[in-house]
Formats: sequence, C-alpha cells, structure tokens
Amino acid sequence: MSENSDRFEVAHLARCELFSPKPQETEDFFTRFLGMYVTQREGQSVFLRAYEDPYQWSLKITEAPQAGMGHAALRTTSPEALERRAASLKDGNVDTRWHEDEFGFGKTLSFQSADGHNLALVWEAEKYVAPPELRSKILTRPSKKPLQGIPVKRIDHLNLMASDVTAVKNGFERHLGFRTTERVVDGDVEIGAWMSSNILGHEVACMRDMTGGAGKLHHLAFYYGNGQHNVDAAEMFRDYDIQIEAGPDRHGITQGQFLYVFEPGGNRIELFGEAGYLHMDPDCPTQTWQMSDIDTGLAIGGANLPWETYFTYGTPSPLSLDQHIERFAHFGPGAEVPTMEPVGAV
Ligand SMILES: [Fe+2]
Ligand SMILES: [Fe+2]
Repeated sequence: MSENSDRFEVAHLARCELFSPKPQETEDFFTRFLGMYVTQREGQSVFLRAYEDPYQWSLKITEAPQAGMGHAALRTTSPEALERRAASLKDGNVDTRWHEDEFGFGKTLSFQSADGHNLALVWEAEKYVAPPELRSKILTRPSKKPLQGIPVKRIDHLNLMASDVTAVKNGFERHLGFRTTERVVDGDVEIGAWMSSNILGHEVACMRDMTGGAGKLHHLAFYYGNGQHNVDAAEMFRDYDIQIEAGPDRHGITQGQFLYVFEPGGNRIELFGEAGYLHMDPDCPTQTWQMSDIDTGLAIGGANLPWETYFTYGTPSPLSLDQHIERFAHFGPGAEVPTMEPVGAV
C-alpha cells in the first residue's frame, strides 16, 4: 500500500467540550455574540451547535473550577475507519477506552495525546433536524442563520498547547492518518505543527507551550468563511467588553484569517474568516517555516500576537488571565519563564 493509505480515515473535528468556571457567561458568549443554538442541557453541561453544524452539538460547555478542554472528538469517515484507527492506536500502545455516553453520538473511542490531551474518535453521530420554525430554505443548511450577534457557521479546528509538539504530531500522523501541512522549527525543535485529514490546512494544530506546561488547550476555532465578519465581530466584541487578543489579520501559516478573543470563562476562541489555502494536492510536501520568517507566518498584515498571552497562556491556567498578563508582561524571546504558581499560593 502507498504511504497515504491511512489518509482520509478521519473526516473532521465533530465536537469539543470546554470547561468554564463561569458557565452562564460562557454560554451567553456563544449564544448572544456567536449566534449558537442550545440543543440540550444535562446536569452541569449545556450543548450547542452553530447553524451549519450537522450534528446535535459541536460545543459542550461544562461547569468546572478551571477553564480548559474536557475533550475533543473527531468523526471518522466510516465505521471501518474507526475500527482501523482503534487497531492502530492499540498497536502503538496508546491506552484506549470504548464508551457510549454522550448526547447525540454513539460508540466512542477515547484516548490521550502524547501530551495528555483528552481526544476521541467517533463514527455514529445523530444528524440535527430542525423544528419547522428553524428550518432553512437553503437545503444544505441544517437550520436558519439566527438573527443574533455575528453568527458562526460551524466548529472549525482545534489548537493544542504541548510540551512536545513532535510527539503529539507523530501520534496524529501514525494513528489517525493526518498529514502535517505546515510546521515551524526553531533550530532542531518543532515549535508548531498544523495537521489535516482532509483538504483544509488544518483540523488540529499543536504549538509549543513556552512555559513548559503540558496538555493545555491553546484555542478552539469557529468558522465564518468571510473576513468581513471578523472585522464586524471585533467591533461587537470591543463594544461589549469581550477581551480581544489579536486580529483581525491573516496568518501566513495556513493563510487563514483570524481574530482571537477570550470567552468570559478564560478559554481562547478563534474566529476564522476565509479558510485559507486548500490542499487539493494529495501528496503536497510539508512546508517548514523558520523562525527568521515567523513574522510573515504569524500575521501577514503585521498584527501583534502578544508574548504575554499568545505564546504563554493556555487553559487550564494556574493564573487567571489578568494575573497571567501581569506576570508575563515582560516575557519575550530568550527571556526566563516567570514562575507559574497561582497568585496567593503557599
Ligand atoms: Fe487556529
Ligand atoms: Fe489562528
């Protein structure tokens, strides 16, 4: 078989669970500003979907003491692909667990990345069927575009912060059939990798945690498909006191248009304008960015991705976002990493 025999076994990022210490404010962020629909409530969790998400939910918000990612699940392209990916993980001595306990999804295989992120694979997914009042006249659209905020179309991608980017990347390549479309190296060390199982530039990315932490979420992204929406959303967030981190601008890496904000629970959320470069070529080589070209890689238009947050803050964080910004105010390339104990800790 060719080296690409495992490609296209994973279809896309289907869902993600975010933890929030301020669950009502987090829910309001996704419903009022990003126009997502609530589809279910269970215990301390609420399930949401955007108007073009195909399943019962793409986002689960669960009340928790700290922000962070509960888990993220990728949907395979067939039940057989799920079994093959399960066998590959087992052969690689990755601990796996089958379970079936999430609203709207069937048999699920859970495992961890090399850095400890909770990941899952699933095939069985219940399609969302809108009630008559939410049915769209546009047949490929599972529900009407809501008249609220600047609505996102769908979940887009996941960016994981890791102590060892190469180890996480290898897991996605070896067991899930992902291809690394682009990466950033600092000398011999990989500090970023963008990976895809389809024609998008990335479904999952991984960036080095400059603070030495492991297993954190860097950001979860939702798709607009239109750069103007990022500008409109920035105005909305500015007016309504949602903290903007960077953008709107366009990355050189992936060519995606970005706007980064912090939802009230503390997780970083990216709004994605145009999807960027599409990889129609099934065996196009991995592009490697050197640190000398990183300014173009990060933001073609020159937007500042701040060191005090973008390269150092992920969730869960031992410090609140404000405390983190204060502690890392003078951090930059080559500087010593500030201590990370929670403020007030003994
Ligand atoms: Fe991203
Ligand atoms: Fe981005």
